[in-house]
Amino acid sequence: MTAPTPPPGSLLTAADLRKTYGPTTALDGAAFSIHPGEVVAVMGPSGSGKSTLLHCLAGIVTPDSGSITYDGREMATMNDAQRSALRRSEFGFVFQFGQLVPELSCVENVALPLRLNGTGRKEAERTALSWMERLEVDDLKGKRPGEVSGGQGQRVAVARSLVTSPRVLFADEPTGALDSLNGERVMELLTDAARSTNAAVVLVTHEARVAAYSDREVVVRDGRSRDMERIV
Ligand SMILES: Nc1ncnc2c1ncn2[C@@H]1O[C@H](COP(=O)(O)OP(=O)(O)O)[C@@H](O)[C@H]1O
Ligand SMILES: [Mg+2]
Repeated sequence: MTAPTPPPGSLLTAADLRKTYGPTTALDGAAFSIHPGEVVAVMGPSGSGKSTLLHCLAGIVTPDSGSITYDGREMATMNDAQRSALRRSEFGFVFQFGQLVPELSCVENVALPLRLNGTGRKEAERTALSWMERLEVDDLKGKRPGEVSGGQGQRVAVARSLVTSPRVLFADEPTGALDSLNGERVMELLTDAARSTNAAVVLVTHEARVAAYSDREVVVRDGRSRDMERIV
């Protein structure tokens, strides 16, 4: 079977993704597409396949079958090194729990993706600090992750995810561990920052008030996805 042609202008497209884990079907023909600068919420109940879809789109998990095209390239034709280079330089990630490195200060955490890409320490920390300013956490630069609140830590994690100016930001339940006030602030800052850099955002969430920050919603149920008309 030849892969379907991605919709015009799309940056990342998936068609007919299937993935099983032993007897469990995680994805059962899921499809997805996102344009540059678009914020798409992937919704659905727990266990429906949202994270598996995100991991496949990000090249972390290889689907059993189906096609994923990023910027005109079929992911399946890339080797591990090419996929990991893509993740380092073109993708950014935010997870439910910030997953900051506890031994590093906040500014060192934000600078880390740049350091891993070979940027010198001074320049990396200068860029990191400018992102921390945008996320309103620059005053925490010298603190360790253990010394900041959950909402602050998550804003540091968002700054880290954007520091390389990724073309796609993958966020899996980024506010799942926050109260609603902190969650909304993180979403506001995350979507503002992403829109200002024209990054596409794949936002996995099961909360309608988080999905409200998106341009479009895709619903996943039993490993199958469909576009949903926003009910306003
Ligand atoms: N690494 C894995 N090993 C075994 N089962 C998995 C794995 N990842 C996901 N699953 C299963 O696949 C289904 C979809 O999981 P997931 O994509 O995490 O759903 P969601 O993010 O919507 O909660 C679930 O039944 C889950 O238990
Ligand atoms: Mg999940």
